[in-house]
Amino acid sequence: MQFELTRLPVTDQPGGCVVAGVFASHALTPSAKLLDKATGGAISAAVKAGDISGKPGETLLLRGLAGIKAERVLLVGCGKAGELNEGVYRNIVAAAAAALGKLHGADAAIYLTELAVAGHDEAWRVRTAVAAADHGLYRFTGYKREPGKRHLKTLAIACGARQAKALDSALKQGQAIAAGVKLARDLGNQPGNVCTPSYLAEQAQALAKAHKLDVAQMRELGMGALLAVAQGSRQPPKLIVLKHLRGKAKAAPLVLVGKGVTFDSGGISIKPGAGMDEMKFDMCGAASVLGTLRAAAELDLPINLIGVIPASENLPDGKAVKPGDIVKTLAGKTVEILNTDAEGRLLLCDALTYVERFKPDAVIDIATLTGACVVSLGNHAHGLLGNDQKLIDALLAAGRTAHDRAWQLPLWDDYKEQLKSPFADLPNVAGREAGTITAAAFLAAFTEKLRWAHLDIAGTAWKSGKDKTATGRPVGLLVQYLLDRVAG
Ligand code: BES
Ligand code: MN
Ligand code: ZN
Repeated sequence: MQFELTRLPVTDQPGGCVVAGVFASHALTPSAKLLDKATGGAISAAVKAGDISGKPGETLLLRGLAGIKAERVLLVGCGKAGELNEGVYRNIVAAAAAALGKLHGADAAIYLTELAVAGHDEAWRVRTAVAAADHGLYRFTGYKREPGKRHLKTLAIACGARQAKALDSALKQGQAIAAGVKLARDLGNQPGNVCTPSYLAEQAQALAKAHKLDVAQMRELGMGALLAVAQGSRQPPKLIVLKHLRGKAKAAPLVLVGKGVTFDSGGISIKPGAGMDEMKFDMCGAASVLGTLRAAAELDLPINLIGVIPASENLPDGKAVKPGDIVKTLAGKTVEILNTDAEGRLLLCDALTYVERFKPDAVIDIATLTGACVVSLGNHAHGLLGNDQKLIDALLAAGRTAHDRAWQLPLWDDYKEQLKSPFADLPNVAGREAGTITAAAFLAAFTEKLRWAHLDIAGTAWKSGKDKTATGRPVGLLVQYLLDRVAG
């Protein structure tokens, strides 16, 4: 979608549609009031008749109104009058955009940045409106014979006349976040027969200066854990490395490591059949790394950022790794693979050891790592753990700002006690209890030399059900974290 700013009063805004808000109290937003006045009370008449109640995200289309320039007016419910929270604001804009996406008409303008959002300024409201609108307009139709035509081409975001520079850069930031989220969603939604480790590597190469390690190099280095996951698959694994080095030459880089399991059947410890298709989303950590790098590139952020993606399939096969097998990791520690379905941590432990060579300032890994995280936090918050509270606090704050929230879980030494193997240095699983934490405890054994945080996105990276789709999370959180780093 093409986004731009408009500073015209809503009544003078030409084009296919203008969007204004109605509160549940039946009060109108300032732009809705202007429209009402210019049209001789058409807006308040519709509200009074009960055609729209003002529930957040509810929409009502009016057309053929005299006295204004636009062809249509889309009213959108804004809930309780007064200050909104981030989530309600995002949902209102996304719902309006989704309704606009179904209309005929090539352009529209959204007059919702005039809503007050607690704790945020107009630049935030513009940036968030762009990201939320693009989210609402998203469709993944590449495999439909008749995808249905999309008429909307240009979407204007109304804003005030003051702070022109800040609002222009807010627009750019919103567009960059939207592009990053869209890339992550597109990659996540791709079927596993298309989105293979090699496909991810190609995508990375199209995006940035990227290179990849193949099996021979992984063997030479001694990435026994990563290779064990891949050995049951016909698709060769890749360790993808991509770089955005726009900071000071000597500044230690920030490294993002994304789990890239392009299909997780569980391997020999095979998963039940129901819902197994969703394990094509097991590369959403990798997708979020690529999306974040895309946004950083679009904004030309002055930072040194490195993305690392261990990519593999996890399949059963005569050659597949078996429960009880013992492998040697890149770090030299041995691991007894008690459950081949706990494969993400095996990829990540070798990738996390590998990134030590970059002497990073901090490392964040992003992974659809544990079903237990879905049980504890549902679809709302990412699980967040790590060994550096300052880093964790910065990520928590970025998540709140972007409304892409994370929630910290404890990573006390007490949990590390659960990771005991009679035969090797570590087992790859530690029983049913606290599964998200023990998975992180496993990773912690490979990040002792790093400032490290871990985002478990198993519950947040995609939505199940009839509107099954990748969400693009946590690109919003990560880009906000980068923006905060640059600003701070
Ligand atoms: N990719 C899965 C985690 C997952 C499961 C994400 C369901 C989203 C929804 C991961 O590789 C996995 O299978 N984890 C196991 C670990 C267990 C064997 C200790 C799990 O969570 O069941
Ligand atoms: Mn698994
Ligand atoms: Zn997995």
